[in-house]
Amino acid sequence: MNSIKPINRRITVEDLRIPEWKNIVLEMHSMMRVPSENMHKFAYCTDRRGLVYRAEFESFKHWEYPWLIKHGEFKPGAKILDCGCGRGILQFYLAKKGYSITSVDISTLKTHQVQGFWEIVKKLGLPIPEDKASAMKAIARRYDTSIDFRVANIAKLPFEDETFDHVYSISVLEHMAKGEDVMAIKEMSRVLKKGGTMLVTVDFSPVKMERKAYTKEEVLDLISASGLYFDNVYDFEVQDWQKHLSELDIAFSKKNKCQVSSAAFVLKKAVIKYC
Ligand SMILES: C[S@@+](CC[C@H](N)C(=O)[O-])C[C@H]1O[C@@H](n2cnc3c(N)ncnc32)[C@H](O)[C@@H]1O
Repeated sequence: MNSIKPINRRITVEDLRIPEWKNIVLEMHSMMRVPSENMHKFAYCTDRRGLVYRAEFESFKHWEYPWLIKHGEFKPGAKILDCGCGRGILQFYLAKKGYSITSVDISTLKTHQVQGFWEIVKKLGLPIPEDKASAMKAIARRYDTSIDFRVANIAKLPFEDETFDHVYSISVLEHMAKGEDVMAIKEMSRVLKKGGTMLVTVDFSPVKMERKAYTKEEVLDLISASGLYFDNVYDFEVQDWQKHLSELDIAFSKKNKCQVSSAAFVLKKAVIKYC
């Protein structure tokens, strides 16, 4: 049996058995000063310094970020676009490694994790900082780096055609309305240079769910809408779904009842357009 896993596939907590992937997670934890006793944990973590201006590392990102870093094949100094960046540590980690990072999000401060905090601030009549770009700059400074952050809808990106060497989007499309996700992937494709790559992760389930998680067919539809092509083998088949869900429950100490996994894929933009 071939034990080499395809690049384009379902990724999950079991991928953290790959030492290189786990080392990336540990490097990010250490950048965020996650206490060493929590280093093995894959649950949501934040930089402990500051409440508002802090980077985040969500649970599923523990395998999505290493996947992206290992398969991005970013050349030194590459111009990279993060679509739907939130306050994810990934953009700051890549900037720290010397890449030129532009990040876009429709919102950065009032994520659900700090919603309660903003409600208290509001009740006390204190001003809520609205300048999202300043907040992102402050977080970037914490890691001695800088990023070019823009507030925008990724379904309508404020960039010229073919601006970036790489475009990625980690766990964002499933948060968009049906149809808007297709607009977004087309936009991401438009701003990608010829020969460049697009890396995407989305919530995934082999069966249709009430909450938005892509099935194999929906992932393939999304890819076809992008107008880009797979440069590598792909496999979104699932044989061991129940085993996967119980592994996730064990990883999260059964605190979360997980029902989804991540699908991850790399697409390439053709250098020559045939007509
Ligand atoms: C689950 S979070 C992922 C954040 C980040 N990619 C990370 O790795 O932590 C989803 C993010 O997508 C952003 N988002 C949702 N719809 C968007 C849109 N139409 N345009 C830009 N960002 C959007 C949200 O504001 C949120 O920050």
